[in-house]
Amino acid sequence: MGEAVFLALIALHVLAATTWVGGVLFFVFAVVPAARAAPGAGIPEALGRAFRPVAYVALGTLIVTGPLLLWILGIGPGMFLQARFWADPFGITLGAKLVMVGLVLALTVWHDTVLGPRGLRTGQPGATRIVGRTIGLLSVAILLAGLLLAQGL
Ligand code: HEM
Repeated sequence: MGEAVFLALIALHVLAATTWVGGVLFFVFAVVPAARAAPGAGIPEALGRAFRPVAYVALGTLIVTGPLLLWILGIGPGMFLQARFWADPFGITLGAKLVMVGLVLALTVWHDTVLGPRGLRTGQPGATRIVGRTIGLLSVAILLAGLLLAQGL
């Protein structure tokens, strides 16, 4: 029973991770170059509007399933208070992953609510693109950290 729940959560976590990371990379490597080639065609606005709800559901799923996975692995708030836990390879990877997840959340909110709309208004999307690329890099690093965690590292 416990194993089936764990597998179901892992499946959801991985599905959400591929949706999130794949979507972000598609924006960096396909949508932005297309928008550069055809400025004023409304490409990032239209694709952003269509994909954003999917991306937010994926991110929300990761943030819900992640702690549930930890809980099933027997890692709860009690362990977070032990310095020993954060000195272990698993704790170090988890700590780095959580800091990066926090950064991705903050940068995504900034990108979607402030920089993006401002870039569209002024016709200068430079800062939006830099932050978008940073979100892409961090998302790939989070994915790699997840693979390490799955190996117990
Ligand atoms: C953008 C957010 C996230 C991404 C892209 C992501 C991605 C991944 C990936 C790709 C794996 C590997 C799964 C496998 O190979 O079986 C993984 C595992 C894991 N993730 Fe995440 N994750 C995210 C957020 C979180 C959060 C917020 C937590 C916890 C608070 C978390 C906890 C875990 C744990 C504990 C595992 C290892 C499960 C195991 O032992 O197999 N993740 N993650």
